[in-house]
Amino acid sequence: MTRMVVRCPAKVNLHLEVLGLRPDGYHEVRTLLAAVGLWDELEVEAAPPGVWELRVEGGVSLPADNTVWRAAKLLLSAFPDAGGARVVLRKGIPAAAGLGGGSADGAAALVALAKLWGLPVEPGQLVAMASEIGSDVPFFLFGGACWATGRGEQVLPLPDLPRYGVVVIPGQEPVSTPAVYRAWDEAQQESALPSFEPAPGLPRPGAGWHEGEGFFLYDWLVGKGELPFAKLRNDLQAAAIALFPWIGENLALLARFSPLTAMVSGSGGTVFGLFRDEGEAVRVAAELSPRQAVAVPLLRREESQLLAHAE
Ligand code: C5P
Repeated sequence: MTRMVVRCPAKVNLHLEVLGLRPDGYHEVRTLLAAVGLWDELEVEAAPPGVWELRVEGGVSLPADNTVWRAAKLLLSAFPDAGGARVVLRKGIPAAAGLGGGSADGAAALVALAKLWGLPVEPGQLVAMASEIGSDVPFFLFGGACWATGRGEQVLPLPDLPRYGVVVIPGQEPVSTPAVYRAWDEAQQESALPSFEPAPGLPRPGAGWHEGEGFFLYDWLVGKGELPFAKLRNDLQAAAIALFPWIGENLALLARFSPLTAMVSGSGGTVFGLFRDEGEAVRVAAELSPRQAVAVPLLRREESQLLAHAE
């Protein structure tokens, strides 16, 4: 293979609990992630060993240590003779917006380069490399809907969600994830800052699965078929709004349209509303268009799973 194109979707967090600050500086989370139809595109072309070029299109400039380069470095350290590559990244997902664009690019780079170079990488090895690139990267290998724990890198794929329509308002300026987590830490100082050891492993459906805050997933997995909208929340939301009041304004705008639920995605600044179906989402987005609102579908696993490209 000499050339390959992979489309990678964005994500929203339909639920995000922050359990506490860990000794390693990350925060222990429990989150429900869902792939949505906003896309970046990554094109890779084979080049002689030692050649590495990355061009970004879409008006975004990436840091030198970006997720695409980190993916290439991890593959090359495991397979030093793999080869070189010329890469074009076409950005359609707003950056630093809580939509996981950089993480999606890292996952896409892993699967595209592994395939381009014909590397014998096991899926488990790809997942391990993905979690080294960033906390949200493993999710994109699986796509669809996933429950994630630990710092977000321990991913349990779930059955596809109902086909809700999503209205996304990406926000006015970039939002720094570490800054929002720090604001969350500061807000906790008032009470006692919870501290957490890293989770020992993934929760698995079964005995005890429904205990604690993960209860809603159990309900859903056993077949209610609908998300418990009233219980969904994002613990970073207050911190994000405190830092960027326009996030709260966008949320208030969405609330006027009576969504099933509306909240901040990840650390923001994107806010989104869930609606019964795509038609309703399209109508709401049209009324909100001055705020750059877009209607996007929730994606099924088969539409969004990047691992499929590695096969
Ligand atoms: O894992 P990733 O590199 O995407 O995380 C970026 C930053 O976000 C971390 O350096 C950390 O400050 C913060 N973060 C966190 N807890 C998480 C995920 C991210 O504190 N679970």
